[in-house]
Amino acid sequence: MQAGDVPGVVDIERRAFAMAWTCEMFLKEIAASADSVPLVMHLEGRLVAYAILWRVGRRFHVANIAVDERYQRRGLGTLLIRRVFEEALKRDCSRVSLETRVSNRVAINLFRKVGFRTVTVSHGYYTDNDEDALVMVRAIGKAVQCGKPSPKQSVRV
Ligand SMILES: CC(C)(COP(=O)(O)OP(=O)(O)OC[C@H]1O[C@@H](n2cnc3c(N)ncnc32)[C@H](O)[C@@H]1OP(=O)(O)O)[C@@H](O)C(=O)NCCC(=O)NCCS
Repeated sequence: MQAGDVPGVVDIERRAFAMAWTCEMFLKEIAASADSVPLVMHLEGRLVAYAILWRVGRRFHVANIAVDERYQRRGLGTLLIRRVFEEALKRDCSRVSLETRVSNRVAINLFRKVGFRTVTVSHGYYTDNDEDALVMVRAIGKAVQCGKPSPKQSVRV
């Protein structure tokens, strides 16, 4: 993710989340240390998805992930999360973690499909409506199968 990507990212973010990150928050991630990895995915020249990843010791944390609603349900979320596993492996991380709203069935389906399991519930984690979060974790190792993007899709830091 580069500074020029941020308006497109924020446009997706605002439509995707009740508690949307601001431009400043994304710019801070770009300027942050090597322990912050902001990814963007382009499809046919258009920014269609992004993820913000944090390395916390040997754990890789998905702080934010979304696919443009016009491009959902085409496998891009799966592709992006598999790229997250590749980035985690590159940094010698042994597991990937994330939180998601208990009501976010779509995200929970995606994360379960790629091997995440719920390890705990964080009560009242989301301050806008006091909603609980599922804390999900996926162990990774050298044997993990990572899908290869087709030529039309590109994911970059
Ligand atoms: C969650 C999200 C990233 C999924 O992206 P996507 O590109 O649509 O995901 P995929 O097409 O790769 O779908 C992967 C799996 O997710 C689940 N899924 C996706 N859309 C779904 C829907 N509308 N209803 C139910 N399950 C759905 C399915 O299990 C699907 O696998 P399948 O196609 O084999 O059934 C996307 O819906 C999104 O950006 N949502 C808004 C932001 C958000 O909630 N982010 C997660 C915060 S923790």
